[in-house]
Amino acid sequence: LNVLSVTSEIFPIIKTGGLADVAGALPAALAREDVTVITLVPGYPAVLKALDGAEVVHRYPVFFGGTASLLSGRTGDLNLFVVDAPHLFGRPGSPYLAPDGRDWPDNARRFAALARVAADIGQGLAPGFVPEVIHAHDWQAGLVPVYLGLTEGPRPATVVTIHNIAFQGVFPADLLFELGLPASTFTIDGVEYYGQIGFLKAGLQNADRITTVSPTYAREIQTPEGGMGLDGLLRARSHVVSGILNGIDDRVWDPATDAHLERPYDRNNLEARLANKAALQKRLGLNEDPDAMLFGVVSRLSGQKGFDLVLAGLSRLLSDGSQLALLGSGDRTLEDSFQAAGIVYPGQVGCVFGYDESLAHLIQGGSDALLVPSRFEPCGLTQLCAMRYGGVPIVSRVGGLADTVIDANEVAVAAGVATGLQFGPVALSPFTDAVERARALWRDRPAWRRLQHNGMSTDVSWRRPARRYADLYRSCVPA
Ligand code: ADP
Ligand code: GLC
Repeated sequence: LNVLSVTSEIFPIIKTGGLADVAGALPAALAREDVTVITLVPGYPAVLKALDGAEVVHRYPVFFGGTASLLSGRTGDLNLFVVDAPHLFGRPGSPYLAPDGRDWPDNARRFAALARVAADIGQGLAPGFVPEVIHAHDWQAGLVPVYLGLTEGPRPATVVTIHNIAFQGVFPADLLFELGLPASTFTIDGVEYYGQIGFLKAGLQNADRITTVSPTYAREIQTPEGGMGLDGLLRARSHVVSGILNGIDDRVWDPATDAHLERPYDRNNLEARLANKAALQKRLGLNEDPDAMLFGVVSRLSGQKGFDLVLAGLSRLLSDGSQLALLGSGDRTLEDSFQAAGIVYPGQVGCVFGYDESLAHLIQGGSDALLVPSRFEPCGLTQLCAMRYGGVPIVSRVGGLADTVIDANEVAVAAGVATGLQFGPVALSPFTDAVERARALWRDRPAWRRLQHNGMSTDVSWRRPARRYADLYRSCVPA
């Protein structure tokens, strides 16, 4: 089966969040299910630089206000199609934001162009690869089913995956013509969304299948509280909506071979984690004390992620000499508050603001517990990394966090299946209660070891999810 995956980010080339991890790891896992994936990505400078063996598949003399070509090539084990359109994508840095931190003013055009090329590939633009399914990720690829709908003749099936319904790609209606969309598409069945153009809405309305990245999030987005305006549409189409949990790339995330760690380890020599803990404490200016419980954070800092709770509960969290190691970036107010906490609690709070792949691995391999107090979380990947690395995740009971972590309640502990701690609702006192429960378990070393072992024995790889995607693709293609 041939599948074209369409994404605006892909690890290890360009990443702002978990979407990149998914797009980068799923193709190799699908190969084992006899699914051949080529991924279509925008030709950002980083992508063009990483592309090996580039060949021109097609030239567009006129393309969204410039000229463009479709390239094919490889990077690592990924097969790529690249939209080489310098007037749209020849900009270094963030895939979405200008240097002033605002969205690029032409984002509608940039990602419409990505979807347009995907639809053309669906129509046979690259004779060597005619996809039977196009898998479109998030709003940036949302117009794929719409452009395909404008064509005559056979077309591939479409799957649209929601990684985060908070980002919907909504743009002014007067762009319709510029995006090559006929007036007939500006309807409730098409791209129209509360008087504007909704990229994600259009994709969800017209896709053959809709998925999101956990079963719980699939339910949450069908409610007014979780749907962010799209719940009605999703309820109406609930027969094609499903949730497939993410995995993590177990080649990238493997504590036994991880070059970013001070000392690699596996579940049979967990003592080696202490060397990583010491290295982490040193790197972040924390007291080098193996007996202080170390809480880690690796996250975007945005309202979604709930770190205002950690700030509100910080004095409690640190009261017994515990420590916080935080790697994050995003919201300035949150960054400033954590920076200030580092000054108020020297040796107990260490923060790095920015994006640092290597430090992310060291936090996973060196902290005792990982905090993920999200207000909503479609799936979440860091709690999976924590489990694989023998860190114990403390998570809110929402979305994929609810589906991937087994709370250490009495029954689960007695049954020997717990992998972390959950709290709910997302509020201060349930959060601090979970921290206190974690602390008590941490002091009971055999109990803690059990949690670590259970997490490390959990299959968080892409194996199972890839099988589910393969089944889904096959279910929407005529046999
Ligand atoms: P989201 O996509 O909402 O940001 P996920 O948990 O799905 O959340 O994915 C986040 C990914 O980004 C993980 O791979 C995590 O390790 C990584 N990450 C988040 N923040 C940072 C950071 N500041 N530095 C390095 N990696 C980060
Ligand atoms: C989004 C979500 C996150 C999910 C990731 C990959 O960024 O916020 O929960 O894990 O996409 O699907």
